[in-house]
Amino acid sequence: MQQPQRRSRGFADFLPRSPEDLPQVYAWFEQMRSNQPVFHTEQMPIWQVFRYEDVQAVITAYHRFSSQATFGDSFLANTLVTTDPPDHRTLRNLVNQAFTPRAVTRLSHRVTQITQELLDAVKATGHMDVVSDIAFPLPAKIIAEMLGVPAQDWDIFQRWARFGGGRENEGSRERAEGSAPDMRQEMNHYFLRLLEARRKDPRDDLITSLSNAEIDGERLSQQELVNFCFLLLAAGQETTKNLLVA
Ligand code: HEM
Repeated sequence: MQQPQRRSRGFADFLPRSPEDLPQVYAWFEQMRSNQPVFHTEQMPIWQVFRYEDVQAVITAYHRFSSQATFGDSFLANTLVTTDPPDHRTLRNLVNQAFTPRAVTRLSHRVTQITQELLDAVKATGHMDVVSDIAFPLPAKIIAEMLGVPAQDWDIFQRWARFGGGRENEGSRERAEGSAPDMRQEMNHYFLRLLEARRKDPRDDLITSLSNAEIDGERLSQQELVNFCFLLLAAGQETTKNLLVA
């Protein structure tokens, strides 16, 4: 009979560094489901749950397991990932409009077009790095477009996408952390200006919807609006990049 394992290692030990590591991660999930379905380590001081039913219970019982207390005053404060219903639903409805069948159909033409442009750009050089030439810029460009960031600002947005994605900065973490406050400030200024511009001159984009959004009859604060933009970039960039190259 299999003995329960008394000392397990946490997720930090199993963070995949390359696609070859993935089988190890899945094996670890399996082991945790069997032996330690509810787990806590000092190393990563959060409670982790592994079984489907437990995860579902934690996600849905927001009165007992609130999202609100987490992340302190980081850029995630008061965003989708740190609010409970009913505020969460209001914020979620804002994002949902970017993913209606109509919006996705319209966007899919742009995805094709942008992919073609990226391929054309490397064709002349005769070689391609799939990560930096396609997987990185494609999601960033699409998210920029969804938000309504003007095309001429792509270079600025691209820098933030790198910063938000994290891994690009590996090996120069200190430099990245040193530049974080400046970049945050730059993003604040940029998005505040854009939100203001869209309030005066509405377009069919997410920034326009955000600039007019209300929760309980109150406008979101300027900081909440900026955080929302950064959340979308951070949530959609690294995930999609990894999916494209996996
Ligand atoms: C392969 C690509 C992606 C993966 C694997 C992924 C994965 C996830 C996961 C696991 C969650 C947490 C869900 C939860 O706690 O209920 C999440 C939430 C979220 N994702 Fe993604 N995601 C991807 C792409 C994107 C993209 C492209 C965007 C937007 C541009 C995005 C925006 C968000 C947002 C806003 C949330 C918070 C939703 C909420 O709290 O209601 N994600 N994603």
